[in-house]
Amino acid sequence: MRIRQLELKPFRNFDQIKLDLGARGALIVGNNGRGKSNILEAISYLSLGKSIRGARDHEAVPHDGTWFDIQGTWDTADRQRHARVFYSGHDGKRVFLDGVPLPRVSELVSQFQTVHFAPEDVALVLQFSAQRRRLLDILISQASATYLQQLQRYRRVLTQRNHFLRQLNQRRADPAERDVWDRQLAEPGARIRLERLQALAEIVPVLQSCYQGFSTGREAAGIEYQGAGLPSSTDEIPLLDTLQSMLLQQLQADPAKEQRAGHTLSGPHRDAFGFTLDGESAETFGSQGQLKSVLLSWKMAESRYLEAHSGHQPVLLLDDVFSELDELRSRQLLSLAEEFDQVILTAPREPGDTIPDRFERIELSA
Ligand SMILES: Nc1ncnc2c1ncn2[C@@H]1O[C@H](COP(=O)(O)OP(=O)(O)O)[C@@H](O)[C@H]1O
Ligand SMILES: [Mg+2]
Repeated sequence: MRIRQLELKPFRNFDQIKLDLGARGALIVGNNGRGKSNILEAISYLSLGKSIRGARDHEAVPHDGTWFDIQGTWDTADRQRHARVFYSGHDGKRVFLDGVPLPRVSELVSQFQTVHFAPEDVALVLQFSAQRRRLLDILISQASATYLQQLQRYRRVLTQRNHFLRQLNQRRADPAERDVWDRQLAEPGARIRLERLQALAEIVPVLQSCYQGFSTGREAAGIEYQGAGLPSSTDEIPLLDTLQSMLLQQLQADPAKEQRAGHTLSGPHRDAFGFTLDGESAETFGSQGQLKSVLLSWKMAESRYLEAHSGHQPVLLLDDVFSELDELRSRQLLSLAEEFDQVILTAPREPGDTIPDRFERIELSA
């Protein structure tokens, strides 16, 4: 997929702007606060129907306005498509695909696909285990509808089991019921772990080879999935039955402790997955530039994963990507970008004379 045109009238700091984006990519240059990140946010609005930054719709309405309107045209293998996301405080959000209003915003999702990198995600994603789990859960959900269903089921049963544990602690529930809750949770829980391990088995080799590109082989990146009792490498993925009995064992390991805590202490909602550099925890030991390279490699692996599962390669949106990267890594980034159909980069200034012609220059003047 390649986005060819974007029109904002208006959106955040733009009253009206129309951009032509190069088929192979674009480099958006402008001073701080000119709206580079806003443009990438607007592009991803067309793929998600909402803000990638987690902003609420009304926050993207210009301060002196009452609505925003994002329109974009993209090429797929065989045709050109057009989407529009319109929001006003008065009418709410409306989405259109090829001019036809869609009954639900969710129907726009995955028509047009993007993978978005923002430098602020480096600290967020790499420091908090919950954020890394979220990264993985969102990615697999995009490729597998059954994964999303299992997650929702797991969360529902988890809430019920936690409620049961608190009741038990107050002697208001029957301890014999515990076994039922354990089994109900272990079933979706094991499926979630299985799909996560399978996804990581696909993603890790791509991540490794991208990172190798960044570091030119000086250090190697990896991922460890740490759920108590599971092998930390994804080389051997246990069978579903095995995963289920392992989880059941974990759930039954220390009933008194869980009862006192009043919530479930093990399971996929607590599993950690972490990035490594030469086998050591990247979050703990990596430099800023190394961590940024790890997350960029992950994003590239995300794009490949989505392409393998949907048949379309997403547009790669890389915000403020050169800061903190040394010259070698910046050059490596550009050469890795060559392997993707369309990459849209932003930078506060021209990052030297190394930018290949494939990137259409877009200057946001002061
Ligand atoms: N809803 C809004 N209305 C008007 N301006 C906004 C709105 N939201 C953000 N901005 C402005 O957009 C600018 C930041 O844009 P941003 O895309 O982050 O810049 P950068 O080019 O540095 O990435 C800020 O000046 C901010 O005040
Ligand atoms: Mg920015």
